[in-house]
Amino acid sequence: MFNQKKRVTRSDYERWRAGQDEAADRIAADPDRLLFHVEPELGWLNDPNGLVQVGDTYHIYHQYDPFDARHAGPVLWNHVTTKDFVTYENLGPALFPDSDLDSSGAYSGSAFMRDGKIHYFYTGNVKHFDRDDYDYVLTGREQNQIHMVTDNPDELGEKQLAIGPLDYPSDIGTHVRDPKVLEHDGVYYMVLGARTKDDRGCVLVFTSCDLESWAYATRIELDEKFGFMWECPDLFELDGELVLVCCPQGVPAEGWRYHNPHQCVWFRIEADWDVRSFKIADHGMPPMVDAGFDFYAPQSFEDAAGRRLMIGWVGCPDATVENPTVERGWQCALTVPRQLSMRNGKLCQWPARELEKLRGACVRVHAGEAAAEPGRLFDAVVSCSEAKTVELEIREGVTVRYADGMLTLDMGDEGYGRDVRSVELDELRDLRVLSDTTLVEVFANGGEAALTSRTYSPAVSTLELHAEGSAEMEFYRLAQ
Ligand code: FRU
Repeated sequence: MFNQKKRVTRSDYERWRAGQDEAADRIAADPDRLLFHVEPELGWLNDPNGLVQVGDTYHIYHQYDPFDARHAGPVLWNHVTTKDFVTYENLGPALFPDSDLDSSGAYSGSAFMRDGKIHYFYTGNVKHFDRDDYDYVLTGREQNQIHMVTDNPDELGEKQLAIGPLDYPSDIGTHVRDPKVLEHDGVYYMVLGARTKDDRGCVLVFTSCDLESWAYATRIELDEKFGFMWECPDLFELDGELVLVCCPQGVPAEGWRYHNPHQCVWFRIEADWDVRSFKIADHGMPPMVDAGFDFYAPQSFEDAAGRRLMIGWVGCPDATVENPTVERGWQCALTVPRQLSMRNGKLCQWPARELEKLRGACVRVHAGEAAAEPGRLFDAVVSCSEAKTVELEIREGVTVRYADGMLTLDMGDEGYGRDVRSVELDELRDLRVLSDTTLVEVFANGGEAALTSRTYSPAVSTLELHAEGSAEMEFYRLAQ
């Protein structure tokens, strides 16, 4: 009924939504719903979009296909707010693919605050259906970068074309999307994910002095091909470094790295701002932002307290892994917000401290001991600088194990296609497992490594801490 061939207006959505109360109530009452993560009321969710703080409220938008949990339909932006990253209010869809500029989907984008006004930039996806021989890579598609200005995050403002297909360099195909803006010394830099006509991923950089008119400046790329398309770039300054996070598609697996269908990696960037040149500083295999099964398309923003917070999509395009909740009408989620920092040349992520408000009493557990009846909602922090090996069974058959320099998340026999993911770590100093009903976020060494994954296995009856050497766990049950 709803597909990319037809625009979707607010009233189309509202008419359809009026018939969905029963489904929404059934989904809201499902025991597999998450306690402290954003997930769709109905259907499908992907990338976080437009992250911005206004007053004491954080506004989070996300890609949303309410019509189809398998995502066959058009995408909208849904809008949720929170003051504490613990409870969220769902305000419903805020942006619809209802114009000539975005008729096949209101794709990903971001928010930028200047002088009390919010500037949203997003990609309008337009597919043509007048012929049947379009490949939608080189032909049949347009991706427009659209600008909206408002002082009210509930009403995003009028859609204006900021950058269109005629503005892209001539070696770039039709895939150009996911605008994100950085300001440096009064100049605005917009990064856009792109695919060259010969299938190499890169990031295009446009500049502007007023956020209205934009000119192509340069691109960020690797010498060797690394994936055919780079999606969702995010360029930001952090602790004295310039960092680019982006999502290269179609990178082949190498050793323990890059096993998901598409990747999310980060680069240190050397900038010469005067001549607008941005070079990838390091050689070698780009480090993954998160090595779990379900992580992609993160976006960061700076909040009023000066924290750089990043939220990711708990999912992956073209996923081979599955979520059994699809049969019950929904799938996918957003990660908790993670505070970013650069430490010893590494991009570190740590759950925003607000999440600690969910913690009950602390139970201290030594190696060889266990926390009884942990349930599925817990936060477990293990200190283990003296241990050679460490193991925790976090669900029946699902383990987090450190041994022989590898941290491994093993999903057991019921991972719905998820088997084993590992990260190389010279040592394990600490480990944190933040567990919601059907989602675990694992952090090691103060967030130097992260692994995010859905899990649908039952709770264990005891959470046992096994270690060769000394290790201690602070265990907290979580509740609203
Ligand atoms: C990443 C992505 C973006 C695009 C959006 C469409 O998951 O493919 O590149 O804007 O999703 O939903």
